[in-house]
Amino acid sequence: MLASKRRGTNVAAILALFASASALSWDHSQYLSSPSSDEYPNPNTKGLGWNQAFEQADEFISQLTVEEKVGLVSGTEGPCVGNIAPIYRLNFTGICIQNGPLALEQGSYTSIFPAGVTIAATWDRDLAFKHGYHLAEEFRGKGSQVILGPVAGPLGRSPMGGRNWEGFSPDPYLTGDLFTSTIEGIQDGGIQACAKHFIGNEQETQRQPSTDDNGDTIESVSSNIDDRTLHELYVWPFQQAVKAGVASVMCSYNRLNQTYGCENSKTLNGILKTELGFQGYVMSDWAATHSGSRAVNAGEDMDMPGTDQLSPVYWHESLVKAVKNGSVPSTRLDDMCRRVMTPYFHLKQDKNFPGVDPNAKDFNKLLFSSPDQYKYNFTFGSEPNVDVRENHGQAIREAGAAGIVLLKNTNNTLPLKNPQHIGVFGNDAGDLTNGMSYFTFNGILNNYEYGVLATGGGSGSGLFTYIVSPLEAIKQKANFKANLVQYVLNNSAIIEQDSPYLSSLQPSPPDVCLVFLKSWATESMDRETLHTDWNGDKVVDRIASVCPNTVVVTHSSGANIMPWANNPNVTAILAAHLPGQEVGNSIVDVLWGDVNPSGHLPYTIAHSEKSYDFAPITNSTSLLNTHDPKAWQSDFKEGVLIDYRHFDYYNKSVAYEFGYGLSYTTFAIHKEISAQKKFSGDLSHSPPAAQIVPGGNPHLWDVVYEVSATIQNTGKVAGFAVPQLYLQLQRGSVEGYVAKTVLRGFEKLQLDAGESKKVTFSLNRRDISNWDAVKQQWVVPSGEIQAFVGLSSRDFHGSTSFTPIA
Ligand SMILES: *[C@@H]1O[C@H](CO)[C@@H](O)[C@H](O)[C@H]1NC(C)=O
Ligand SMILES: *[C@@H]1O[C@H](CO)[C@@H](O)[C@H](O)[C@H]1NC(C)=O
Ligand SMILES: *[C@@H]1O[C@H](CO)[C@@H](O)[C@H](O)[C@H]1NC(C)=O
Ligand SMILES: *[C@@H]1O[C@H](CO)[C@@H](O)[C@H](O)[C@H]1NC(C)=O
Ligand SMILES: *[C@@H]1O[C@H](CO)[C@@H](O)[C@H](O)[C@H]1NC(C)=O
Ligand SMILES: *[C@@H]1O[C@H](CO)[C@@H](O)[C@H](O)[C@H]1NC(C)=O
Ligand SMILES: *[C@@H]1O[C@H](CO)[C@@H](O)[C@H](O)[C@H]1NC(C)=O
Ligand SMILES: *[C@@H]1O[C@H](CO)[C@@H](O)[C@H](O)[C@H]1NC(C)=O
Ligand SMILES: *[C@@H]1O[C@H](CO)[C@@H](O)[C@H](O)[C@H]1NC(C)=O
Repeated sequence: MLASKRRGTNVAAILALFASASALSWDHSQYLSSPSSDEYPNPNTKGLGWNQAFEQADEFISQLTVEEKVGLVSGTEGPCVGNIAPIYRLNFTGICIQNGPLALEQGSYTSIFPAGVTIAATWDRDLAFKHGYHLAEEFRGKGSQVILGPVAGPLGRSPMGGRNWEGFSPDPYLTGDLFTSTIEGIQDGGIQACAKHFIGNEQETQRQPSTDDNGDTIESVSSNIDDRTLHELYVWPFQQAVKAGVASVMCSYNRLNQTYGCENSKTLNGILKTELGFQGYVMSDWAATHSGSRAVNAGEDMDMPGTDQLSPVYWHESLVKAVKNGSVPSTRLDDMCRRVMTPYFHLKQDKNFPGVDPNAKDFNKLLFSSPDQYKYNFTFGSEPNVDVRENHGQAIREAGAAGIVLLKNTNNTLPLKNPQHIGVFGNDAGDLTNGMSYFTFNGILNNYEYGVLATGGGSGSGLFTYIVSPLEAIKQKANFKANLVQYVLNNSAIIEQDSPYLSSLQPSPPDVCLVFLKSWATESMDRETLHTDWNGDKVVDRIASVCPNTVVVTHSSGANIMPWANNPNVTAILAAHLPGQEVGNSIVDVLWGDVNPSGHLPYTIAHSEKSYDFAPITNSTSLLNTHDPKAWQSDFKEGVLIDYRHFDYYNKSVAYEFGYGLSYTTFAIHKEISAQKKFSGDLSHSPPAAQIVPGGNPHLWDVVYEVSATIQNTGKVAGFAVPQLYLQLQRGSVEGYVAKTVLRGFEKLQLDAGESKKVTFSLNRRDISNWDAVKQQWVVPSGEIQAFVGLSSRDFHGSTSFTPIA
């Protein structure tokens, strides 16, 4: 009833769109960013929100020579993955930058936290904040002022994206809130967050330039994105990060409209620093700087790593010369330094900040091969190998469990009811076999055959001090000396015809068969499949053929195709994502019901890989062999229609939709949903003019409506519900596709059996606006807005409507 009403209203708009979409040819010459900074000049930071620190930074900078100023913005050799040189005469000990986002990557005695995708699946802002805060405690303990994270780019345009798991969700609203809560946690803990990667960094393939067989440069892939899509999807979370006062933003490897991310004056000076009012510094991704004064004038503020190990050095001495000969104004250099030093003083990193763990330099030998030849003396802590893990393991265990999504639970097979005979299957169930990390080996980021997958690969991974495997945790929980826990971890052996290994488990079949599958992804390459690795599908089929109570658990970087989902012998499915070091405990807590599952999908699981072809990774043999320097073009033709917006728009059925997730209890949302107006008088289409502050026009954040609903736990046990608010926005004057509904609110609530709670979603002006590319403004469209409250993007329990502007 609800659904048909919703669809009915939209037919005319959809038909009109088809006409315009098919008439639209994709012309790359239309997708060009201004390479010159004349059009988008550099706005100077005023230290808005950081007034006292801004004065301190100013005072500090006034004492520096040009060479010292250039040193503040150009990386140097040192113990960390990124280093800013000390200035001894001013007692400035330099800045140590280390990889996040889920751990201090290159450190001993650090915790491996859950990946961004797990945090996204929790739909829990408080948990994201705590996660950030704990990370900050570890960075501080190791003497590192800056964490490279969190990630909102990639957003997750394609589920094939190799780094999606480092970020949160392809939905900008969900990502925006969790990204920002994480940043707030990190900076509350006194560490600078670096929001990355800005912007359009949606694939790994050809993220950096290559050379063809003539030795000529082939430029990196260009993400060609229209202005409205850029604002409504990809910039959306960064806008909130800027509002929250994020210290730094990392410019990305890819080109955006054919101009490099780190020398794109439109995105850096124009959007980030002018429209959004960003007051901190833009740091390059490692070797993403391709020029000196051009990048500086376009808005890049810090070059990393700044040394010649990965690429030519464009800054340092050249920048000194460029300032002295006027091709970079000295006021610009001062602005860069103020941008770098203001957050440093604001977070009081000049006071009692621990020295760098001496052990750090052993980790960064790969980048800075001979620590004896550092140009500067860094300040080290007195003892190496500081243990910074505290009791973070407990929070990691809880977050790991909170990010597990129960997709199927036939006949309440879960939670397990004291099974006497448990079968454990699959190469994801056991311990690591190739060292304590998913190591890079001979330049290849490995998808090792044996061992549980608890993070992805690359710079966003980390070194485990311990990992609790599922098998180990299951044995403990099941009391394996009294009950049977039998296992086959070799996928090839499981799927062998008439496998002797399977029939060796007696008695047969086990009361429950737990199958553990994994799905690898890593920085620097995109996923080649959405099916689980190492013949996961065959493993499920094989186990299910002999075991009528088969429970499948995936440890995965994101969406997986699950062809076995409707097999009646597959009684339960859990998408367990990438939970970090307590992976085994997290899953056991859910399997046995010590934790009631409360994760919800932060992406859509479709029926087949082909279903995601609307946003392909740009890649082909002909591109790999091209001689055209500009051949790599990624056209974001789908506009705002990614993930559920695509499937909903085209009325496609999916396996499990965005926002979906079961619990061991049930919830109902009362039909009565109400909307309350929170402004007086008339609402203007555009926000009233106001001084730009971090986050942009402050009126974008004015709360204009509240939508309230009542949710009840209708089952027999306590649990966490995630009620979600979706809006059907009017088209107004904007061009391009308009999504059927978009997420604009969510809460995570604990409810005892039978308990009801009222939930209120606040909608600000941006939440009910479209980005109007002509007006260059967020515009509230005329007409009625439908609001739906439900438990997923396709499970609406009630609706209401309101008309902000008639
Ligand atoms: C990219 O090009 C499109 C099409 O002309 C335009 O809408 C958009 O504003 C451009 N974005 C940037 C950052 O140049
Ligand atoms: C540097 O620190 C020393 C020792 O605490 C202090 O005496 C000196 O005044 C400081 N110098 C500056 C420029 O702050
Ligand atoms: C200024 O110096 C920079 C860096 O050496 C150089 O690239 C640029 O051409 C110089 N400009 C002028 C006007 O001399
Ligand atoms: C670093 O310390 C060593 C040993 O104390 C000293 O010889 C050297 O001059 C220092 N280097 C710098 C750049 O201050
Ligand atoms: C689930 O319960 C139904 C009804 O009791 C029964 O017919 C069916 O066999 C059960 N399925 C499984 C997998 O236990
Ligand atoms: C896994 O099983 C296959 C098939 O039986 C076998 O060839 C392979 O050697 C086994 N691997 C290990 C590590 O035992
Ligand atoms: C389910 O399990 C039973 C044995 O318990 C088996 O006979 C049947 O073929 C299985 N079904 C599937 C689809 O694997
Ligand atoms: C990119 O294309 C090449 C050539 O077709 C292929 O070998 C490679 O696996 C592809 N990479 C990805 C991530 O799909
Ligand atoms: C989706 O379904 C609705 C209602 O049946 C219909 O009006 C609309 O045209 C469909 N959209 C597409 C893209 O097929």
